[in-house]
Amino acid sequence: MTVAEVADKIKLKLHQQFNANEIRQITLLLLRHFWQISETEFYIEKQKKLNEQFDTSFLQSLNLLQQHTPIQYVISTAEFYGLKFSVDENVLIPRPETEELVNWIITENKGIKTIIDIGTGSGCIAVALAKNMKHTKMYALDISEKAIKKAEQNAENNDVCIDFFCNDILSENDFTQIKFDCIASNPPYVCESEKAKMKQNVLNFEPHSALFVPDSDALKFYRAIADFAILHLADKGKIYVEINENLAEETQNLFKQKGFGYTELKKDLNNKNRMLKIKFTD
Ligand SMILES: C[S@@+](CC[C@H](N)C(=O)[O-])C[C@H]1O[C@@H](n2cnc3c(N)ncnc32)[C@H](O)[C@@H]1O
Repeated sequence: MTVAEVADKIKLKLHQQFNANEIRQITLLLLRHFWQISETEFYIEKQKKLNEQFDTSFLQSLNLLQQHTPIQYVISTAEFYGLKFSVDENVLIPRPETEELVNWIITENKGIKTIIDIGTGSGCIAVALAKNMKHTKMYALDISEKAIKKAEQNAENNDVCIDFFCNDILSENDFTQIKFDCIASNPPYVCESEKAKMKQNVLNFEPHSALFVPDSDALKFYRAIADFAILHLADKGKIYVEINENLAEETQNLFKQKGFGYTELKKDLNNKNRMLKIKFTD
């Protein structure tokens, strides 16, 4: 196959499911994944002949995409904060909103000693922070052993050192005596009742334990994070969490009721209340 033939095959197979821009993105990702063809080569070397060795895997990946498998799972890779992450069905695909949370933390916490990322999944938050905060010791935890394995792999691939804990943040535990200068978390926060509005590629493929909380106790992870912070956040430490845009006020109130004197909401690029910073005092 040539580059042009690959592009035509993708268009033919996926045009009913994806718009032109999405098809271009998928084409670039598949060409790079299987044949290391860059974006520039894609535009100027349309007749380049590609190694046949990957033809079968390429066609299989089109079938997976037709079945709504997210492209990141098809190529086992996601980009986050300019870094490459290995992903599979055991971890959430890192989202652009979470890059904004990471950016907020990096900007405001230069030179701090310790951070813990709660619910690390692929490790995207912890790894991106470690990569950009060279003098900060990074810790991360998740309940899922498989997620921790992925996160460890991603830390190694990105050449950063992180201490991982496999722990349940919802159960009382004293897995550490450390006081952290910063707690970061993107915990599960999508209400079960919101499933109806979600796309098949999220619902059928991404781990539900990473996404959903019962409507009856939608803020349970924030309560656990607050309790953890009361024990493990340094006096002048800060918490940064990603939040459900529909529960911004409730999440703020939860931390206030737990005794935290300072909370600050931040909108994401889509103008939705998406992040919250919390401190003991102003
Ligand atoms: C929304 S995902 C976030 C993953 C990653 N930090 C990111 O931003 O892409 C939430 C993560 O919390 C983890 N998690 C769920 N329940 C947990 C619990 N009780 N204790 C610790 N981690 C938990 C899930 O395994 C999942 O990796």
